[in-house]
Amino acid sequence: MIDNFSSDAAFDNLYSLRAQQLSSIHWTPIDIAIKAATYLTGGKGRNIIDIGSGVGKFCLVAAHNFPDYIFHGVEQRKALVDEAIIAQNATKLINVNFIHANFNELNMDEYDHIYFYNSFSENLFHYKPIDNLINCSQDIYDEYLKMFYELLEDKPSGTRVATFHCSNEYIPPAYKRVQHITGEALKLWIKQ
Ligand SMILES: C[S@@+](CC[C@H](N)C(=O)[O-])C[C@H]1O[C@@H](n2cnc3c(N)ncnc32)[C@H](O)[C@@H]1O
Repeated sequence: MIDNFSSDAAFDNLYSLRAQQLSSIHWTPIDIAIKAATYLTGGKGRNIIDIGSGVGKFCLVAAHNFPDYIFHGVEQRKALVDEAIIAQNATKLINVNFIHANFNELNMDEYDHIYFYNSFSENLFHYKPIDNLINCSQDIYDEYLKMFYELLEDKPSGTRVATFHCSNEYIPPAYKRVQHITGEALKLWIKQ
C-alpha cells in the first residue's frame, strides 16, 4: 500500500491532476508542514487554523503527525475544500476540519495558533494562478492585510504564528520572531 506521507509526490497523488500541477507553487511541502506544526503544537491549546487552506495539504500532514491536535482549514474556493475533504477521507484522519468560507467570516477566538502561507498575495501577483474565479485587487489585498493584522493584534499572549513566504508587514510588533535564520521562507512568531 502507498504511504501518502512518504514524499510530496506520493501525497500529491491524493489530488486531481490540476491540483498536483499547482502543488510546487501553492501548497506547503511536507517538510515545511511538519516543521511549522511542530512549532504550533508547542503552545497552549489544541486548535490550530490554516488561513487559506487550499487543498488541505498543511492540515492533513500536520494532523497525521500530531494526532492530539485539531487542524482547521478555512478556504474561500469551494472546489479546493471539496478536494481537501476527498483527501481527508482517503487518509482517514479525524482531527481535521475544513471550512468553506472567507477567513474574515470566522470567529478567530476559537483557534489557538495560526499557519499562513502568504494567502493574499494572489491579489498582487498573477503568476500561475489557482483559477480566475475570485476577484483579486490591490484594494482587496489591503483590506485582508489590515484584517489579518488586527486579528493577530487581538490574540492573547502566547499565540504562535507560522508564516511561509510571507512579508514581515503582516506581523504586529507584539510578535517576536523565534529561531531567526536570515532568508528562511518559514518564519515562526510568538505574541509577547
Ligand atoms: C498559497 S495557498 C496555501 C494553501 C495551504 N495553506 C497550503 O499551505 O497547502 C493560499 C490559499 O489561500 C486561499 N485564500 C486566499 N484568500 C483567502 C481568504 N480571504 N479566505 C480564505 N481563503 C483564502 C486561496 O484560495 C488559496 O487556496
